[in-house]
Amino acid sequence: MATTTFTLHFFYLFFILFASISSSNAEHSFKPHAFYLSIIKDKATLQYHSLIDMGNPIVTNPYNNSFVLVIDLGGRFPWFDCSGYDSTTYRPVPCGSKRCKIAKGPDCINCNRPLKPGCTNNTCGVEPNNPIQQFVVSGDLSEDVIRLDDIDSTRKLTALDMPRFQIACVDPNKFGVTGLLDGLVNGSRGVLGLGRTPISFPAQLASTFRLPNKTLPECSSGFIQMACHHLTFINPHSTGPIFDDTPSQEYFIDVKSIKIDGEVVNLNTSLLAIDKNGNGGTRLSTTSPYTIMQTSIYKAFVDEFVKKATAKKIRRVRSEGQFAACFDSRTISNTTTGPATPNIDLVFENENVYWRIYGANSLVKVKENVLCLAFVDGGSEARTIETSIILGGHQLEDNFLEFDLASSKLGFTSSLLRHNRSCSIFL
Ligand SMILES: *[C@@H]1O[C@H](CO)[C@@H](O)[C@H](O)[C@H]1NC(C)=O
Ligand SMILES: *[C@@H]1O[C@H](CO)[C@@H](O)[C@H](O)[C@H]1NC(C)=O
Ligand SMILES: *[C@@H]1O[C@H](CO)[C@@H](O)[C@H](O)[C@H]1NC(C)=O
Ligand SMILES: *[C@@H]1O[C@H](CO)[C@@H](O)[C@H](O)[C@H]1NC(C)=O
Ligand SMILES: *[C@@H]1O[C@H](CO)[C@@H](O)[C@H](O)[C@H]1NC(C)=O
Ligand SMILES: *[C@@H]1O[C@H](CO)[C@@H](O)[C@H](O)[C@H]1NC(C)=O
Ligand SMILES: *[C@@H]1O[C@H](CO)[C@@H](O)[C@H](O)[C@H]1NC(C)=O
Repeated sequence: MATTTFTLHFFYLFFILFASISSSNAEHSFKPHAFYLSIIKDKATLQYHSLIDMGNPIVTNPYNNSFVLVIDLGGRFPWFDCSGYDSTTYRPVPCGSKRCKIAKGPDCINCNRPLKPGCTNNTCGVEPNNPIQQFVVSGDLSEDVIRLDDIDSTRKLTALDMPRFQIACVDPNKFGVTGLLDGLVNGSRGVLGLGRTPISFPAQLASTFRLPNKTLPECSSGFIQMACHHLTFINPHSTGPIFDDTPSQEYFIDVKSIKIDGEVVNLNTSLLAIDKNGNGGTRLSTTSPYTIMQTSIYKAFVDEFVKKATAKKIRRVRSEGQFAACFDSRTISNTTTGPATPNIDLVFENENVYWRIYGANSLVKVKENVLCLAFVDGGSEARTIETSIILGGHQLEDNFLEFDLASSKLGFTSSLLRHNRSCSIFL
């Protein structure tokens, strides 16, 4: 089981930190580790992605063994398209091995063509999924070395190799899979899953480097200290793409109501609860650029926002594309937290605990002088969502999120812009 926290910061220069603090009275003197991974936001797809250096030698094949992988917060494990991949340190994970059991590999895969990554016998089969197209394929659980950037307590970066990084290798030619990478950032070769499983990227870092468990008296990554709240993030029911009797690997937060400038949005609150099939509720997603809401919630939410914006003398203009409410930016004053719009509060069990979404996170510029409410209807275009609210990337940016995998708690602060924080303090 994962035994660490990881923090996710979305800034102007996007990056992730996997952090853990050594505890003074620990039995073993743990070295504090923080792993640094820069994240880039793709302009075309608005997806977040990162470059992973994998294999040996690092520079050989047409891809130079450096992969662009799309960040999927709720993804179960890392996977990549391994056609053409060549590395002397590549090892398939055998069926029936301890690692295969931990990964819950349901299949044992054989291959009757020449041996290469993606074509080996007696290999632990897992089921990677493309989170954008939402389909599942068959892949070989494998191991190879990856090179990480470790930040020490003096904030110096040093390269550190992780020898047995587990990643599913999918050779699309083997099973005639087409469109494996469809919808993902152009040039990417797979997905970096950060979900709540023993083989997600953060869980692997925790077990490999034996990071100590951490409970959180306050939010802190060792680099930042600020008051923040903790919420449990488990949905006890499976949410796919594989449905079984285990809790969801995605991160849910228990939103009880939504307020806009202090007024409760009139919505069917039973949609905010999670039912016995795992439907409903609110989860966090890095693969949805904007927050997606179930249709009835979206309508009530937009109506209330428009009402409050009008009260602030903000002029509404014609809707643009997927956004139902757009405004003339010249009628909105500017603040350190972005345009001075109505505040959106996601309110939790204790009414004094809420996640406030300011203008920088609620509005998006779509063209000259036009800002739109950056939330979309999850029921339109023949698409319906099982989760009632999926908090997307635009709303997560510039927030400090700390995931404690041992206690299943999420620590958060509202917009860091309010604290006048910038990326540089972390480096
Ligand atoms: C791969 O490596 C070669 C030689 O080091 C370099 O010239 C080339 O630009 C690299 N390709 C990519 C896609 O990074
Ligand atoms: C896998 O096993 C089959 C059957 O024993 C054999 O024909 C095949 O050559 C093996 N493939 C590899 C890649 O070793
Ligand atoms: C994807 O990237 C390649 C090379 O960088 C480029 O030639 C191609 O046009 C791009 N495709 C799209 C759809 O942007
Ligand atoms: C509220 O949502 C629940 C769950 O979808 C549904 O069963 C119920 O009929 C809804 N109530 C109203 C008044 O729409
Ligand atoms: C706020 O800033 C934006 C972009 O920087 C600008 O377009 C807009 O006119 C400003 N609004 C006001 C009221 O000054
Ligand atoms: C850390 O937490 C895990 C899961 O809660 C537990 O199994 C493990 O024993 C803990 N390790 C330590 C060193 O406390
Ligand atoms: C915010 O930080 C910037 C640069 O670090 C500084 O110039 C500015 O005065 C700060 N503003 C406030 C309100 O602290």
